[in-house]
Amino acid sequence: MEEETEGCLSLASWLIIGAVTLLLLWAWKACRVYNTFTAMGVPGPKPIPLMGNLLDTFKYGIVEQFARYGRQYGHIYGIFTFTKPMLLVTDLDMAREIFVKKFHSFPDRLTEGSMNSKPWKDVLTHLKGDHWKHVRSQLSPIFSSGKLKRMMPAIQRVTVTLTEYLKKAAEKGEAIELKGLCGRFSMDVFAGVAFSIELDSIHNPDDKFVKRAAVIMNPNKVVMTLLLFAPRLFWFLSKYGLDMGFKESLDFFLAVSESAAKDCGQDKERRTDFVRLLVEAQEEETKGAVDAEINHQDQLVTSSTWSQKGLTADEIHANAFLFLLAGYETVATVTSFTFFLLAVNPECQKKAQEEVDKILGKTKVDYESANLLTYLDMCINEAMRLYPPAFM
Ligand code: HEM
Repeated sequence: MEEETEGCLSLASWLIIGAVTLLLLWAWKACRVYNTFTAMGVPGPKPIPLMGNLLDTFKYGIVEQFARYGRQYGHIYGIFTFTKPMLLVTDLDMAREIFVKKFHSFPDRLTEGSMNSKPWKDVLTHLKGDHWKHVRSQLSPIFSSGKLKRMMPAIQRVTVTLTEYLKKAAEKGEAIELKGLCGRFSMDVFAGVAFSIELDSIHNPDDKFVKRAAVIMNPNKVVMTLLLFAPRLFWFLSKYGLDMGFKESLDFFLAVSESAAKDCGQDKERRTDFVRLLVEAQEEETKGAVDAEINHQDQLVTSSTWSQKGLTADEIHANAFLFLLAGYETVATVTSFTFFLLAVNPECQKKAQEEVDKILGKTKVDYESANLLTYLDMCINEAMRLYPPAFM
């Protein structure tokens, strides 16, 4: 009996020793990747085994982390997310080379191809190669000047509301929290131009559009880092119950888009929003022999077959949602910083005001007259240079 127990124990010990050895071997092999940049003579921060440089991301946030590395290592350096090497390039000439001349070699973003749930599987920022090119070419025409002109009434309506709100606040001498106000302005504009929904969150800060968007736009640092650098892990956790607080808000915006698409036929004259324009484009594309429900992944493998295809309903809703996501926070950031910088630079404010008075006088701003405001355009560009609302 004693002998048997001893035998059992020694088997368990061997199993543990074997497992630990295999684990160490795997870790050693995985960590060999950390030589990548040293071997190439590219500088960069020292990675922590298996974690890479992710601790700095948690510690400083992505923007500050990259700014620090840039100061320390210059315009080209290498970092690791877990064991994945990433070359960071902030040299402008090289960036131009990558994004323009050599774009055919770098068309894809850093996504893992594992986001198979709605809406992510169809958003432009997740798609790759020919599929991305196809959806992008279907979406680009809705930003033509003709289509943008059709969206102007929605923008004018919200701008009038904002101006009245600011006037009243100024008369009462009230202080304004700019970022929140500009976020609500941006949301009202997007609800109008994306779905033809007339919101007034400028006066109703608790509007559910703003609340839902805030959940998606302001995830905590851990969620943000997982989303950007470990999407596989993020979607694995989401799939198995840990929804990170996103699901309800996602479902809300998808339902809004689906309902906007359903109503398209009923209100053709009034509707000039993204969803309407996308459905219109889809209807035109699918007038021919091509079946709108063709399964992209299985049947459309070459770029010539992609080009015969309209957008699917999933692609339309996913990208209407992406417009909101991509436009809401960026526009809010640019407008709030432009207001702020004009307020602290009264001589620039005076020049901008004189230009607006001269060009617009007492008429309503429209697409053509907005394009004549060159000094104001310069102020907006300067605000973006000083406080960039997005990075890539
Ligand atoms: C000042 C405002 C904006 C800034 C600074 C900005 C910045 C950017 C940047 C840096 C990217 C590239 C991101 C990457 O490659 O990972 C991007 C992509 C994108 N943005 Fe914006 N954006 C702004 C406004 C908007 C608006 C208003 C919309 C929609 C109405 C929008 C829709 C998109 C879309 C759809 C993409 C992906 C394009 C593609 O994959 O082909 N953005 N934006």
